[in-house]
Amino acid sequence: MIIAVDGPTASGKGTIAKALAAHFGLPHLDTGLLYRAVGRQCALNGGNADDPADALAACAFPDDLLADPELRSEATGGLASRVSVHPGVRQALFERQRAFATRPGGAVLDGRDIGTVIAPEAEAKLFVVASVPARAERRFREMQAAGRAVSLPEIAADLEARDARDRSRAEAPLVAAADAVLLDTSDLDRDAAIAAAIRIVEQAAQGR
Ligand code: C5P
Repeated sequence: MIIAVDGPTASGKGTIAKALAAHFGLPHLDTGLLYRAVGRQCALNGGNADDPADALAACAFPDDLLADPELRSEATGGLASRVSVHPGVRQALFERQRAFATRPGGAVLDGRDIGTVIAPEAEAKLFVVASVPARAERRFREMQAAGRAVSLPEIAADLEARDARDRSRAEAPLVAAADAVLLDTSDLDRDAAIAAAIRIVEQAAQGR
């Protein structure tokens, strides 16, 4: 079974995808991490994330970059959002994601375009959303726990800028697949959100 979990930054999709993978015994790929690695590599190369050639060159990042804690920073998230608008970058990362999605036995992938572009045939599709204040608060707590100095208004502004860029890009914009089930986690704690997601996948699996 392929499970596609899409949604904006800090909606809870990563936590939900990890929990679904553990619950159903499937491998999990955080596809945002690939775009973050491209953004980070572009900066390390001294390139410009808005330049298609610089961004494409950064797709040849070494695999060990995926373990770099800097990939989780807001700054790298912003770079990821900028490199991800280039069709060449999306194309370069497509095969890797597609190969993961089509593993025998299935997989869970989370991102922005899993249910629409990477695995449109996924048996279960979730589109996870939450209000900007709820997402900003979560991200703020995560950053504080990681010892990063950030302010709540800055995080909210950054989330909104990234949402706008992800939704308005021409190639694979952030949009729910027509057959995705919407899960709003604004008023749900972690366990309630995971339980709701498991129910959605179980229902989708029954409907197959
Ligand atoms: O999910 P995460 O915040 O780690 O993603 C970072 C950025 O990578 C997103 O803002 C988005 O622009 C891009 N991305 C994407 N397609 C995906 C996953 C992430 O364009 N499947």
